[in-house]
Amino acid sequence: MLYSAVMTAKLYPLALKGAGSREVLLKTPSSLKEAEALADFNRKWQRENVKDLASGFLSGGHFTPAIFMKMARQKDTVVGFFQGRLISYYTINSVVKEGVLLEQFEKAEDLKTKGIIPHQANVAVGVQVVVDTEYQGSVLAKLMLDRLVENTRDRFDYFYTSISRKNKKSIAAHKKAAWAFVEEDDCLHHLIYDLNTHINSVKYG
Ligand SMILES: CC(C)(COP(=O)(O)OP(=O)(O)OC[C@H]1O[C@@H](n2cnc3c(N)ncnc32)[C@H](O)[C@@H]1OP(=O)(O)O)[C@@H](O)C(=O)NCCC(=O)NCCS
Repeated sequence: MLYSAVMTAKLYPLALKGAGSREVLLKTPSSLKEAEALADFNRKWQRENVKDLASGFLSGGHFTPAIFMKMARQKDTVVGFFQGRLISYYTINSVVKEGVLLEQFEKAEDLKTKGIIPHQANVAVGVQVVVDTEYQGSVLAKLMLDRLVENTRDRFDYFYTSISRKNKKSIAAHKKAAWAFVEEDDCLHHLIYDLNTHINSVKYG
């Protein structure tokens, strides 16, 4: 089943650590086959399927192909392909409103109450980013984030996400990508990204 592409597919040359350069295609998912590849990739990186937690994992947010298709229709997801193989994705989730995502909505409201995010702001939750090991250490994650901001800034002012304290690589990557670390607790760092300024404007409170 095909539906209209909502983002122009574009090729980006990427310098890879020790592996030369490759042209990666960034686009919005546009077929059931691509949604199935996204669901497989999502499953592969879940915490229970990863050995070295410091090098990255997803906690929660197991999404089916049907959910990924709905997300794609909403322009929630940007995917990277190399020679037809899915190698990365960056997504928000404005489709699922239960479990971890419900907790994230509540946390975003809490950040508004504390004055860290303005009350009237529209906040997207359910952020997930995954880059295949071979393509990590390139600018791919940041390129996808930039495209996702372009796709969604007519609907949202901020992205909110949380990262396990165990996920050292993701923490370092989000710092580099100018996410603002606004709170932390025993298990998680809480982060926001300001789509309007596109810069790191909030510090630890
Ligand atoms: C998170 C992710 C998208 C980041 O992409 P990436 O291409 O690896 O990110 P970058 O290379 O830009 O940044 C990673 C940084 O972590 C550092 N790093 C790597 N392993 C690390 C570790 N064990 N401890 C601390 N820092 C580490 C790297 O050196 C790099 O920093 P540097 O560029 O200053 O050297 C990618 O690692 C990934 O897909 N991980 C698996 C899924 C995941 O964890 N997603 C996020 C869930 S919150």
